[in-house]
Amino acid sequence: MLKKALAIVSITLASTSAVQAENVFNPEDAVEYRQAVYQIFSAQAGVIGGMVKGEIPFDAAEINKRANNIGKVAPMLGETYFPETRGVDDSNLKDAAWKNMEDFKGKGQAFGKALGELITASADPSFDLKAAKQTAGAMFKTCKSCHEDYREK
Ligand code: HEC
Repeated sequence: MLKKALAIVSITLASTSAVQAENVFNPEDAVEYRQAVYQIFSAQAGVIGGMVKGEIPFDAAEINKRANNIGKVAPMLGETYFPETRGVDDSNLKDAAWKNMEDFKGKGQAFGKALGELITASADPSFDLKAAKQTAGAMFKTCKSCHEDYREK
């Protein structure tokens, strides 16, 4: 299970398609598509965060579903990061990401690993609010860490 989750997310920032994304998407559309994927992250993560904070009744299966939903769309992000998207006006990606691509990818991998751990943990019958706080909290830290360095405010 963990292995599968990691495989899904480790390709997050790798270019995987046989047809190069830059040949099928114009840069502006690719950025819109990228932001839409992050909006999906946000909707799913919002439910997880609401449960961890006690605003929504705790439900392990629901957390597992939301984490899996993030894992389903995360691999789509990779193809939105091709060089021609650099400098698209509507993008909030800092230019620093292109200069420190290895570090940026590393943050993507840290996120993928934390997400994989949340997916695995939340499928376990022992998963309770305390475990959710820990594993979801760890994942949220990886969102924040990337935004701090690579997303415009
Ligand atoms: C590896 C880096 C990285 C990780 C990890 C990451 N993000 Fe982001 N996020 C970005 C970047 C870069 C942008 C800006 C993209 C752009 O505008 O081109 C962004 C944009 C967003 C946006 C705004 C989308 C829009 O409509 O403009 C939301 C919401 C968001 N991220 C949520 C999340 C959540 C929630 C997580 C964790 C579950 C997460 N992100 C993880 C880098 C990351």
